[in-house]
Amino acid sequence: TRTQVAIIGAGPAGLLLSWSLRAVGIESVVVENRSLDYVLGRIRAGILEQGSVEELTRLGLGAGIAEHGLTHNGIYLQFDGGRHKIDFHALIGRTVTVYGQQAVVADLVAAHRDAGSDVVFEASDVSIDGGETDAPRVRYVANGVETELVADFVVGADGFHGVTRPSIPGLTSYEREYPYAWLGILADVPPSTDELIYALHERGFAMHSMRSPQVSRLYLQVPPDERIEEWSDARIWDELHTRLGIPGWTLEEGPVTDKSITPMRSFVASRLRHRRLFLVGDAGHIVPPTGAKGLNSAIADVTMLARGLADHYVGDDRALDGYEQAALTRQWKLQQFSQWMTELLHRAPQSDPAAEFQYRSQLGRLAYVTASTHAQESLAEQYSGLPL
Ligand code: FAD
Ligand code: DHB
Repeated sequence: TRTQVAIIGAGPAGLLLSWSLRAVGIESVVVENRSLDYVLGRIRAGILEQGSVEELTRLGLGAGIAEHGLTHNGIYLQFDGGRHKIDFHALIGRTVTVYGQQAVVADLVAAHRDAGSDVVFEASDVSIDGGETDAPRVRYVANGVETELVADFVVGADGFHGVTRPSIPGLTSYEREYPYAWLGILADVPPSTDELIYALHERGFAMHSMRSPQVSRLYLQVPPDERIEEWSDARIWDELHTRLGIPGWTLEEGPVTDKSITPMRSFVASRLRHRRLFLVGDAGHIVPPTGAKGLNSAIADVTMLARGLADHYVGDDRALDGYEQAALTRQWKLQQFSQWMTELLHRAPQSDPAAEFQYRSQLGRLAYVTASTHAQESLAEQYSGLPL
């Protein structure tokens, strides 16, 4: 089979790239190794930058966001028993939108289905050949049939554990792990807060987010090797009350409908291109979740690469040739922001000899940020999204 662009992975990056290419008349096939139900069931990120909302809307994917997205003007930073609002809209005139990654993926899947796109689920033995040539190939088996896709370009949108990155020669990984993880729950209870709360507590980080007026999303810092079985719903709520509680405020509880632990790492690949092979999204980089940059940076990569491919097919390769540099430069800005937010808000483990110094220094940093308009503007600018 021949196509113009073979895309590996039907996460938000792969599905959005295929949709963006369709809008400019470029054919693509998306090859995903998991089932449609699995892809639709994955609960991950929850915050869209203003630029992400604008891009999705421009591509005709804005109806769900307009109907169900919750516009937020800012966040709360909480520490030392006090809760401080950082009002992005008042500071710099920008907002973010609560709209789950799960909903973004559902919207993309529905749009592709209605348009009759070629998205192959449950493909096994996905592999890439001919990365050195001008006709790279993707092989896979679906429904017992082996298929070879011959393409002008192959794009790896296959996440951190995908097969595309290892086929780029001479690629170096810059990486660090953090000595903690996030335990996240979804609960059927209206959010107890108007804006997201990011809290540093002596016992560790906690966050109150949401998915809708009826559904809350909450996170707790836990040790990196923690087992979810150790955390009954009652223990989770107790810990959330302790870390998020302030006088005169009540955290409402509700039935927990999902519960999982996510490790935290920072990772950037030194290369996002080799000849006709490209990487977008988590295949090329990972941020720790504090600051909500993962999904948004996947959307940014796709926006840049889609422009480059569109121009290529009308004879202009400048944007395509600039993709790797532009995406990496932007990515390192997001890396430092995500690292800054993570280190601002998480408690170093007690085994770290500098843990107590660190904690007090973090309180100093939080006291500075919540008292300085300059610092708040910088936070607001980065959280609401840097320009493409
Ligand atoms: P993915 O969503 O990982 O999609 C990659 C796709 O490729 C998947 O569907 C996968 O099944 C498929 N694939 C993999 N290997 C192959 C193969 N060999 N062949 C074919 N297909 C393959 N970000 C935030 O901002 N906030 C959060 O709270 C947050 N929580 C997260 C929780 C978890 C558990 C994880 C893993 C990530 C979280 N993120 C969060 C990050 C965010 O979800 C990602 O940045 C985003 O999903 C990136 O999209 P992607 O399409 O690049 O990758
Ligand atoms: C959510 C996740 C984040 O990483 C974040 O910084 C804010 C919100 C969420 O899942 O709602």
